[in-house]
Amino acid sequence: MKLDIDFASQEFFRDPAAGIARLREAGPVVEIRFPIVGRVFMTTTQEMAARVLKDGGVFTLRKDDGTLAGLRWWMPRIFLVFANSMLNMDEPDHTRLRGLVDEAFRRRAVLDMEPRIRAIADELARELFAQGSPADLVTRYARMLPLSVICELLGLPLDDRPKFIAWAGRTTGISSTLGFFRLVPTITAMKRYLERHIERVRRSGGDGLIAELVRVEKEGARLTREEMIAMVFLLLLAGHETTTHLISGSVFELAKNPGLRDWLEQDWSRADLAVEEFLRFVSPVQFSKPRFVRQDVDLGGIRLKRGDQIMAMLAAANMDPAANAAPEKLDLARRPNHHMAFGTGIHFCLGYQLARLEGRCALQALYARWPKLALAVAPDAIQWRRRPGLRAIVRLPVTES
Ligand code: HEM
Repeated sequence: MKLDIDFASQEFFRDPAAGIARLREAGPVVEIRFPIVGRVFMTTTQEMAARVLKDGGVFTLRKDDGTLAGLRWWMPRIFLVFANSMLNMDEPDHTRLRGLVDEAFRRRAVLDMEPRIRAIADELARELFAQGSPADLVTRYARMLPLSVICELLGLPLDDRPKFIAWAGRTTGISSTLGFFRLVPTITAMKRYLERHIERVRRSGGDGLIAELVRVEKEGARLTREEMIAMVFLLLLAGHETTTHLISGSVFELAKNPGLRDWLEQDWSRADLAVEEFLRFVSPVQFSKPRFVRQDVDLGGIRLKRGDQIMAMLAAANMDPAANAAPEKLDLARRPNHHMAFGTGIHFCLGYQLARLEGRCALQALYARWPKLALAVAPDAIQWRRRPGLRAIVRLPVTES
């Protein structure tokens, strides 16, 4: 039985737990039709998601001939720019590419960034209502913080942030093939911008991770030109888009539950636990990338055939009652918290420590400056982007009290 569920609908985003519960009733692995990807299997439990993401022998991103799961014959060539990133590689290329940037995202390196992240967050919080109240928390805060941090980390000029914001805004509504094609000029502009920047660094040097990658590139053949551009693309996009929606989703929940907001404000040592619960509850990345099934296999009572495609539904793994009691409840003190917001297996999020730290700094700086921050509209008026796979609030109008 093929299930029809609109993963980009407001109904689904407003209450994912309800949609997911319906999906799970059909079984731990279900067959669906997904926008762009087409016919695909999807896991609905945490156990099945972990099986798919951890068993790299059976579930891979590529076929033997290099075909990438999720890529369709009709897709414009420009989208191949993403194909050479670590997120789209199996072993051994994955290890080689991830190894080049691993160091920059280690715990120590990330913790060293904390004072700078705090300073950026404090400044953005101070300026939140500089152009009037209500203010849109998404553009003025939730996006600006992670974008500024990843720009600094990569060595991209902060003055170019408005460009990235405009580009990110244009990725709204890609729930259809047409929406996908409308993205072509944006991706092309971004690619050109990054190519020019990398070229400048090759010629005259620069700061940050891009400059380090250029050094690696010059030293030998560990990174091709296509891989370099794909790496920077991935870090720039993955490094801010997801955290943006973690922050806005968390603030939305706190605004709906002032009791929880006050509880958090009483003792900020609770923030780490709270961020873990927001990661689980908001689930900004709702699905893994599709994987190919490499050999016929039984999974959750379904016979998968070689060549089928399957996605791990992380949002469902996070709402699985077998992994966390009363998963539909937002419990900021939840411990232990078994979530899969960052995926698992070899593609486990590279930026997880950075994302956690940004989430904590964002909330603390925001509520230290505006302790009574509130929604300026009824919660029902909030809309999510029509984009399956990313739970992204479009605008979050807030006032000081
Ligand atoms: C709340 C924030 C974030 C969430 C929810 C998130 C989620 C994820 C998930 C689910 C994956 C695995 C996808 C899959 O297996 O198909 C992933 C991979 C990745 N993430 Fe994140 N991410 C976040 C923040 C970040 C940040 C701040 C960075 C910084 C650069 C980052 C960089 C990456 C990279 C490079 C990968 C690919 C890793 C690999 O293929 O080995 N992410 N992320």
